Amino acid sequence: MEHFSFLFVVMVLSMTHSVANQNEKWWSETIPYKMGMEKMTKLHFYFHDNITGDYPTAFKIAEAPGSNISATRFGELYMADDPLTEGSDPNSRLVGRAQGFYGLSGMNELSLIMGISLVFTGNKKFNGSTISVFTRNPITHKEREFTIVGGTGYFRFAHGFISAKTYRSGNKNAIVEYNCTIVHY
Ligand SMILES: *[C@@H]1O[C@H](CO)[C@@H](O)[C@H](O)[C@H]1NC(C)=O
Ligand SMILES: *[C@@H]1O[C@H](CO)[C@@H](O)[C@H](O)[C@H]1NC(C)=O
Ligand SMILES: *[C@@H]1O[C@H](CO)[C@@H](O)[C@H](O)[C@H]1NC(C)=O
Ligand SMILES: *[C@@H]1O[C@H](CO)[C@@H](O)[C@H](O)[C@H]1NC(C)=O
Repeated sequence: MEHFSFLFVVMVLSMTHSVANQNEKWWSETIPYKMGMEKMTKLHFYFHDNITGDYPTAFKIAEAPGSNISATRFGELYMADDPLTEGSDPNSRLVGRAQGFYGLSGMNELSLIMGISLVFTGNKKFNGSTISVFTRNPITHKEREFTIVGGTGYFRFAHGFISAKTYRSGNKNAIVEYNCTIVHY
């Protein structure tokens, strides 16, 4: 009996050992890989960011002790879930949403740091696919350029840039025109 339970323990130990070895094998693997041809997708749409009004889609979630006396509101942080539409009219066809945060990061200039994910829902081809944007956004400049740092779904391995222009702004609300140039596989 004792002999039997000893055997059993040895069996269980050797089983867990082989499982651990298997995990080690799968933990890391580097193999030669050659990508196919990259494609380029261009998208054009309008981004609607409303902080005020009846249905705001961006909210202040934090601020620094000095943000309220800073001319550039340095240190304010916002969370947004903003609609992206085909036309400049907020009631035009919805093509996706911009979800993420942006903060006032300029001490001497009104400028944002934005970490947002654009999720597309407007057509079957892009439905649920995202591009990640992590970028400086000096909002008072007529034209800005954003970095696309990655993507999912249709936009896996994405990189590229966005050219952005404020279409209309006022009362802490803005409509911004986006031209995206996305390189992906
Ligand atoms: C700024 O906000 C702080 C709290 O963060 C508050 O104590 C202070 O009174 C505010 N100052 C002004 C000028 O509103
Ligand atoms: C944003 O607010 C403006 C009024 O300032 C309103 O006309 C517009 O419909 C709002 N946008 C969205 C997407 O709700
Ligand atoms: C996108 O996918 C959702 C389910 O994830 C579905 O409900 C919706 O109809 C799809 N939209 C399009 C345009 O294919
Ligand atoms: C986007 O591209 C169109 C067509 O080339 C151009 O008319 C428009 O000014 C561009 N907008 C931005 C924000 O780059």
